[in-house]
Amino acid sequence: MNSFLLLFSLGLLLVFAAEGRRSPSCDAPDSGSDLRVLHVSSPCSPFRQPSTKHLSWEESVLQMQSEDQARLQYLASLVAGKSVVPLASGRQILQTPTYLVRVKIGTPPQTLLMAMDTSNDAAWLPCTGCVGCSSSVFAPAKSTTFRPVPCHAPQCKQVPNPTCGLRSCSFNMTYGTSSIAANLSQDAVKLAADVVPAYTFGCISKVTGKSAPAQGLLGLGRGPLSLMSQTYGLYQSTFSYCLPNFRSRDFSGSLRLGPIGQPKRIKYTQLLRNPSRSSLYYVNMIGIRVGRRVVDIPPTALAFNSTSGAGTIFDSGTVFTRLVPAAYEAVRDAFRRRVGVNKTVSSLGGFDTCYADPVVSPTITFMFRGMNVTLVPENFLIHSRVGKITCLAMAATPDNVNSVLNVIASMQQQNHRVLFDVPNSRLGVARELCT
Ligand SMILES: *[C@@H]1O[C@H](CO)[C@@H](O)[C@H](O)[C@H]1NC(C)=O
Ligand SMILES: *[C@@H]1O[C@H](CO)[C@@H](O)[C@H](O)[C@H]1NC(C)=O
Ligand SMILES: *[C@@H]1O[C@H](CO)[C@@H](O)[C@H](O)[C@H]1NC(C)=O
Ligand SMILES: *[C@@H]1O[C@H](CO)[C@@H](O)[C@H](O)[C@H]1NC(C)=O
Ligand SMILES: *[C@@H]1O[C@H](CO)[C@@H](O)[C@H](O)[C@H]1NC(C)=O
Repeated sequence: MNSFLLLFSLGLLLVFAAEGRRSPSCDAPDSGSDLRVLHVSSPCSPFRQPSTKHLSWEESVLQMQSEDQARLQYLASLVAGKSVVPLASGRQILQTPTYLVRVKIGTPPQTLLMAMDTSNDAAWLPCTGCVGCSSSVFAPAKSTTFRPVPCHAPQCKQVPNPTCGLRSCSFNMTYGTSSIAANLSQDAVKLAADVVPAYTFGCISKVTGKSAPAQGLLGLGRGPLSLMSQTYGLYQSTFSYCLPNFRSRDFSGSLRLGPIGQPKRIKYTQLLRNPSRSSLYYVNMIGIRVGRRVVDIPPTALAFNSTSGAGTIFDSGTVFTRLVPAAYEAVRDAFRRRVGVNKTVSSLGGFDTCYADPVVSPTITFMFRGMNVTLVPENFLIHSRVGKITCLAMAATPDNVNSVLNVIASMQQQNHRVLFDVPNSRLGVARELCT
């Protein structure tokens, strides 16, 4: 019928091309060490859920928040959990991969979309014959470079519940109500123009339960078996991304791997290492400003503690920033005061600061040691379709998860280049429009 439909998948004003109409840029090639990043619900994504377009704005916000909740539970399990984060982290895997990149795997190459996840070291792909996977699967038999990883290989000791199959190392993991069985495997991977000759990943053979992940997972965590650790010689554990706005119709975001071509003019803060939560990128957030005033937050709400896992991480898989309750309440109260004490505040799902009338918003600044990042309203306000409701798009860490972790999430990172420079122990942020 008409050429464009306004849809509100994922709760934000997403403008998609009409059904069946993919932008020509969907198939544009990657080049150099830059991979184009697309949102899972963008018009180029085969994983876009048709059902979400029938949801009202309110319903889709609630859905997105409940998916975030699962993500936070996953992060909390990392924080509370084990001393070694395995190749395919046990317990839960992220429920809601938000941003995808295109990866070519095998010889000759098969193109698959994989979800990038900065808080995970896991790497896996649905493989041929998989029971319960989606249709987009990797076919090991068609690749001349595919190898099962043998049982005696050191990597086999780092996966959860390993067992020896006929020749190869297999493992099981659970997530939510699902369980996944996979064979540990190696194959050549092509990332843009770069070739990784023997990338180790889980080849999924069986998924049970409903929460099955549709695409492969590209763990970019800082742990020992993540992509970054496996490609140290090529990329020196350095990468950056610019996440496009959720509304973006084309995908012009990018994942840039390696030290070459990274921005020179960028502000840095120190990356903190937590040996017992080795995949997470911790930073030292020391305060939050609303407008020009620094909010009064108890220092313990922000302090890094490697024993309890407390502190602040940058995460690409959570959509809305979560702060521990003491920090969130202080920021929210300051925000409400700046918007106007007489404005009527309502709530929507997990968001407790919504307005029915247009508001004049202050800026919000995350203050890290050595680096202040001032967000524009696009990074922290969401508006309903007709502009009738505006909500502060942050929330307190829910009570039912280990509430010690502050998570700087993807909506707050959009249209910034975020640079992870592990050898120099620093994380950089610079504003960049990659809409
Ligand atoms: C893994 O899952 C398969 C199939 O569900 C099952 O037969 C096998 O016993 C499981 N292995 C382990 C180690 O749990
Ligand atoms: C993968 O594992 C399944 C179940 O453990 C097994 O039947 C299959 O042969 C394995 N595939 C490969 C390529 O090793
Ligand atoms: C860090 O957390 C542990 C465990 O919760 C606690 O015992 C310790 O006192 C904390 N350290 C600091 C400096 O707060
Ligand atoms: C808020 O409302 C009260 C009572 O209606 C009024 O006295 C006050 O001036 C208002 N404050 C602002 C900032 O508008
Ligand atoms: C960040 O902002 C604070 C307060 O506004 C200021 O005192 C501090 O110097 C700034 N830090 C940097 C690194 O610019």
